Amino acid sequence: MPPPDNKFVAKAKAILEANDRNGYTVPTHRLYPFQWNWDSAFVAMGFAQFDVDRAFRELERLVEGQWADGMIPHIVFHDLSGADSYYPGPAVWGTSHTVATSGITQPPVFAIALRAVHDAAAAVDPAAANARTLPLYEAALKWQRWWYAARDPENTGLVALLHPWESGSDNSPAWDIALARVPTTTIKPVVRKDTNHVAAAMRPHDQDYARFIHLVETYADAGWDPAQQWATAPFKIAEIQTTAILLKAGEDLARFAADFGRASDAADLAALNARTRAALLAQWRPALNRFVSRDLVSGADVDASTHAGFVPVLALDLDAPVARAMVAEMARWSAGKLGGLPTTEPGTPIWEPKRYWRGPVWAVINWLLINGLHRNAHPAFADQLREATLAVIETTAGFAEYFDPDTGEGCGGGDFSWTAAAYLCLRGVDRGDGS
Ligand code: SER
Repeated sequence: MPPPDNKFVAKAKAILEANDRNGYTVPTHRLYPFQWNWDSAFVAMGFAQFDVDRAFRELERLVEGQWADGMIPHIVFHDLSGADSYYPGPAVWGTSHTVATSGITQPPVFAIALRAVHDAAAAVDPAAANARTLPLYEAALKWQRWWYAARDPENTGLVALLHPWESGSDNSPAWDIALARVPTTTIKPVVRKDTNHVAAAMRPHDQDYARFIHLVETYADAGWDPAQQWATAPFKIAEIQTTAILLKAGEDLARFAADFGRASDAADLAALNARTRAALLAQWRPALNRFVSRDLVSGADVDASTHAGFVPVLALDLDAPVARAMVAEMARWSAGKLGGLPTTEPGTPIWEPKRYWRGPVWAVINWLLINGLHRNAHPAFADQLREATLAVIETTAGFAEYFDPDTGEGCGGGDFSWTAAAYLCLRGVDRGDGS
């Protein structure tokens, strides 16, 4: 169902159009002036609500950044004209792809978006939809194989992140213990630009940035070679949010493989998905009512209370008591709060309601959870999150990057592309699942 014609829908479309840069969409003007990987996947689903051609184009432009080994980097620096407003730019990354890119990756929402874009296109012209989807399916499958080869070389079923930026949840308390082991020394000085655009109190600390850049320089020294990075990484987390997104992507790719008659791809994907499903289920911790990541350097569970513990609902069919316990825990975190699920547990020492991934609500996280809640037969809580997301945008925050759950205030960057995309998808469907 297309989104109804209201002024917020018009504004959301206008934001996507204003953030368009010749076929790709910047997350927001100045703060993030390039193409970001998972932002673009969410944005493609937003465009699919009203312009399917442009939705495909978003994904095609991201694939221009795909490396020969299959990785799709987290930033593609197509056009350096806005580079002065962002740090770290291409010179810091020192990668060697044909188009300048970063050297790390981001959660693989791409295949999930491709499924949504394909299905919107197929409703009009199935043959044309398949023809345009096929090369993107192949790119997504290559990236899926990269994840398993590069980030799960021991075949555990969980994929690991080597940099907090790969999570998309940069300064989450989930990384506090692991990141504290990373030195704050850097070869070149750290020259932040983000705090020129957004209040420092809403962003990571300087010490976090020093560690982020230490990791970039460490991996650049390893020649961006996955095996060498794996061997030397001082930060290595087998991560549940990314793994859950990878599994959902794997399910969507398996459906494409069946549709396209790719029997051997389908068999590979079924095996990978089964291994990951079992591994993810084993990360449930009944005492916490959440799933947990594992720190591969220490071997310990990452038990910080962050939203990532609920994201596996996206890709698993949970036993009813597990789903009930998890929903009760999410309801406890969001009780009396605005905008949906806070990214950390309110009232705990880690809770900072305005600081980036340390408390604020993010529309796209609600969106992932809403999908998973429908899958697991919890439509009432899904609707509660959907209504809360739409309400905070319409009443207090506008299309901000993220929201303060105590006040409903918009935080971070303004006129934000993925918030606009989330709005279009959640406003446009009764079930709120973007399908
Ligand atoms: N989110 C990071 C930033 O703030 C990079 O991906 O720049």
